[in-house]
Amino acid sequence: MSDSIFSKIESILEEIKSANPQDAEQLENFRITYLGSKNILKGLFSHMKDIEPARKKDFGQMMNELKTTAQGVFDAKNTEIKNASRAESKNAEDYSKPPFPEAVGSRHPVSVVMNHMVDVFQRIGFVVSEDREIEDDWHNFTAMNTPEDHPARDMQDTFYLTNSIENLLRTHTSSVQSRVMTSSKPPIRIIAPGRVYRNETVSARSHCQFHQIEGLYIDKDVSFADMKQTLLYFAKEMYGAETKIRLRPSYFPFTEPSAEMDVWMGTETEKTKKLTKGTGWLEVLGCGMVDPNVLTNCGIDPEIYSGFAFGIGIERSAMQKYDIGDIRMLFENDIRFLNQFQSAL
Ligand code: DAH
Repeated sequence: MSDSIFSKIESILEEIKSANPQDAEQLENFRITYLGSKNILKGLFSHMKDIEPARKKDFGQMMNELKTTAQGVFDAKNTEIKNASRAESKNAEDYSKPPFPEAVGSRHPVSVVMNHMVDVFQRIGFVVSEDREIEDDWHNFTAMNTPEDHPARDMQDTFYLTNSIENLLRTHTSSVQSRVMTSSKPPIRIIAPGRVYRNETVSARSHCQFHQIEGLYIDKDVSFADMKQTLLYFAKEMYGAETKIRLRPSYFPFTEPSAEMDVWMGTETEKTKKLTKGTGWLEVLGCGMVDPNVLTNCGIDPEIYSGFAFGIGIERSAMQKYDIGDIRMLFENDIRFLNQFQSAL
């Protein structure tokens, strides 16, 4: 009887010595088997009573050896496995590795300028109002007091949708004016940034798509002086505190009186001379007092309310700011071009 117990102990000892747990899970199984609260060594101890007295001491020593060997194997493997997993996670975040730069995007120059302009108007209480690019004839033209036979309606200038002559790609953000006026009551103070389309030959100076910001302010007693002051503030924010503006009489179907605003650039440098065609004045936007017909068309009583509106082109400002000589570059999505604006906000 004793012999069989002793040989069992021998074989378990061999088992323990040759055990080779490879990961935390195998190590835990090893622990449960040989060192846990119900380990197999405990079962062997119950045979103590069957051992003849002379061999009881040997039995005790062998059982001890089993236990310490098991603990030794466990400790060694535990350290080994922990070190290995630490090394692995360290590898995953090795800060000493050479950097591999992420390809970060950059803001498009048109967005940079547009965001800046929007920000300037938001500071004085204008709210952004965006609307559709596919517009109907009424909101783009009719409501905006552009009669049927107006040259701007010519197929040359407007992209009409083939499925319905009623629908077109908006030719200006002024269409948002009629959208807002027909859906809300004064006071109205909005800016509408967005893309517009015209059926024009694409060249270095003009494109069939570009961006505008429309402004509209309607309330009781809004005057031309209010408009001038608002636009002067805008010009100073964009071009510097010393900026001078001039309003030149002009014509737009939807405003009366209408004007174009120029900003003084001077003629000192070759660049400003070229930009202003030698006059020193740069044309920046169209504006005017909202024509009473437009108010009536959109359900606002011109006897009670008045307002001003303006439309600013974005591309020209972006080209001037970043010295871009060809408007087509803004729409080609050439990474080599766009990458140059990574530092622009
Ligand atoms: N819609 C005009 C254009 O596309 C720009 C414009 C001029 C807008 C005068 C206005 C305005 O609101 O009052 O050229």
